[in-house]
Amino acid sequence: MNDNTKDHTAASFAGPPQERLVVPLPEAMALQPVPSCAGSLGAADLSPVGGPGEARAGGSSPAGIPRADWEQLAAQHGTPYFLYDADQVRQRVQAVRNALEGTAQVYYAVKANPNLALLRSLVSHADGVDISSGGELVQAQLAGFDAASMSLAGPAKTSAELEAAIRAGVGCISMESVREIEECARIARRIGMAAHVSLRVNPLQLNRAFGMKMGGRAIQFGIDEEELPQAGARVLALSPWLDFQGIHAYVGSQCFDPAGIVEATRNTLRITRELEQASGLRCSKINLGGGFGVSHGQERRELDLAALAPELLPVLKAHRDTTPWPCTLIFELGRFLTAQAGIYVTRVVSRKASRGKLFLACDGGLNHHLGAAGTFGATMRSNFALCNLSRPQATPRVCSLAGPSCNPTDLLGVDALLPEPAEGDLLGVAMSGSYGLTASPILFLGRDTPAELVRTDGAVVVGRRRHTIADFN
Ligand SMILES: Cc1ncc(COP(=O)(O)O)c(C=O)c1O
Repeated sequence: MNDNTKDHTAASFAGPPQERLVVPLPEAMALQPVPSCAGSLGAADLSPVGGPGEARAGGSSPAGIPRADWEQLAAQHGTPYFLYDADQVRQRVQAVRNALEGTAQVYYAVKANPNLALLRSLVSHADGVDISSGGELVQAQLAGFDAASMSLAGPAKTSAELEAAIRAGVGCISMESVREIEECARIARRIGMAAHVSLRVNPLQLNRAFGMKMGGRAIQFGIDEEELPQAGARVLALSPWLDFQGIHAYVGSQCFDPAGIVEATRNTLRITRELEQASGLRCSKINLGGGFGVSHGQERRELDLAALAPELLPVLKAHRDTTPWPCTLIFELGRFLTAQAGIYVTRVVSRKASRGKLFLACDGGLNHHLGAAGTFGATMRSNFALCNLSRPQATPRVCSLAGPSCNPTDLLGVDALLPEPAEGDLLGVAMSGSYGLTASPILFLGRDTPAELVRTDGAVVVGRRRHTIADFN
């Protein structure tokens, strides 16, 4: 069923030559999973600390990385900067693939981190990509992904974006309304090329296991389950301009309970069967969404793949084995693949006390990392895992990390316990490989954007250079 012929083990950084550090960083610099979020990838030694009472006294040097290396990157690229470990992302992809045992493909959701160097490193490892705009289509193509293994979803795809996707041969364009079905067919007929489409469904079932819910209620995403038969009939009527592929469901993000994922999967497969029986459509691609949860701090463990697999695999296999035609099942994952492979590094500019509380004002904050400040899609603010990269052995102290902006919510850490920082120290915000820079208001207050560095095959490359405000004029 799946394309297992791809090389999922070979190093795959296939892009054009990029600026490389003169001295490749030591192997020990690989970013390691956060202790409390280690999940399936094993030992961790980043020594981040979250809130009061969570510090490991003193702490070892983060991942054994000499202070000099963080400083070397700072000297070359300025601060703040992001560093992503592409090798670790590839390991995460492989861990999910192993857990799924070939029953489903793994697509990477580009929106989580669209950095080009990172995308390039995934081309021969992920089965495809989930994209959500014309811009992400271009970015995924630049990285080297084949359009046939892309799925495009989004509630407001413009006519130009639909046309670009059809012309490129995107494998699955999710139809999110009957209006979009009509528009897509119109464009396909006009340009004389069939559009490969799926129906994105908004299920009746509200799945409470997902922290951020994107289905199961009145919502802008997908076609309501009750209206799916009519939508299916319309797609059928508009063939061959609409080349029907199957069903797409994405009911939410941040699910930590394996039973929630299994329930969402069962429900999508039930909807698929009912549509097939009612309409005669054949679903050969079923995008089951994902929403595998990760913890950014120490409040909980990430979704446990080992617990998920024994419950999920029988459901997937049963569907595949009872489908009379070849049928590809897909999960599209973002943060689960990249979150823990990224760190945001910022320097303490100023240290002060206010009414008994210690504040460290840093040169980066919500303008680069809205999520860490708790204002990007979080239901509740909690500290990301934090560490003092400059002096990990210092005595822990409760402090708050402020960003540079004029907004009181610009806090990278609130009452966090970490080795006591001094002015000039480099601090790290771990779990920053997803929804970081590109999900942040980078033009707010006109500071430079941070460089995004990508560690791949043992060396660090510039995935995106630093920009000044003038670059955006
Ligand atoms: C359609 C779709 N697919 C995939 C994702 C990726 O979600 P996550 O990063 O939580 O895995 C999202 C997130 O919004 C989405 O809307």
